[in-house]
Amino acid sequence: MTKLGILEGSLRRASLSRAAGRAALGLLPDGMEAVALPNPGTLPLFNQDVLDEGMPDSVSAMIDAVESVDAILIVTPEYNWSIPGGLKNAIDWLSRKTPMPLADKPVAIWSVSPGLLGGARVHEGLRHTLLSQGMIIMAKPEVQIAGAKGKLDVEAGHITNADSETFLRNHLTSFAEFCNTWRRA
Ligand code: FNR
Repeated sequence: MTKLGILEGSLRRASLSRAAGRAALGLLPDGMEAVALPNPGTLPLFNQDVLDEGMPDSVSAMIDAVESVDAILIVTPEYNWSIPGGLKNAIDWLSRKTPMPLADKPVAIWSVSPGLLGGARVHEGLRHTLLSQGMIIMAKPEVQIAGAKGKLDVEAGHITNADSETFLRNHLTSFAEFCNTWRRA
């Protein structure tokens, strides 16, 4: 059984990407279970002075949650062609624990946008940062949920577009196989 942790890139309540992350819970293949990791909005801004006084409880909770999963699915918007600050801040905090909790974990990315490009430009920068953590990235197939307002029910946390639902279900199946291959290697 692969335990997947879903890491959200958005802090807002009516987030499209969070809705996609919630929808993923209903699209998992056999052999995979999932939990939502704490939202990056629960963490303070990284500051070495704060860390020098001790790891904040919210960060410890995030570390414990990440350490309890086998693999990560990041579901995120793109902000100004790059990583939303809250998500980058969460990765920065996680990187301060030794050994790094994200290291050697398989990871996949879903970008979500109301726009036509689907947040395509967040992938490259995010992969760059994830490599710094020693994560095992499933780079293909890429997932960009474009025009997301027409494909998601934010209240219910469901995908409303049948083609998108099939694509995302198949992507999670591929990711489960990727995780199993990595575990066997
Ligand atoms: C955006 N948005 C955005 N969209 C996009 O496709 N490319 C981008 O570079 C940006 N940049 C950007 C910067 C900032 C500061 C904000 C607030 C928004 C729009 C963004 O995709 C949209 O607001 C999403 O709905 C945000 O994701 P959630 O919160 O719905 O998950």
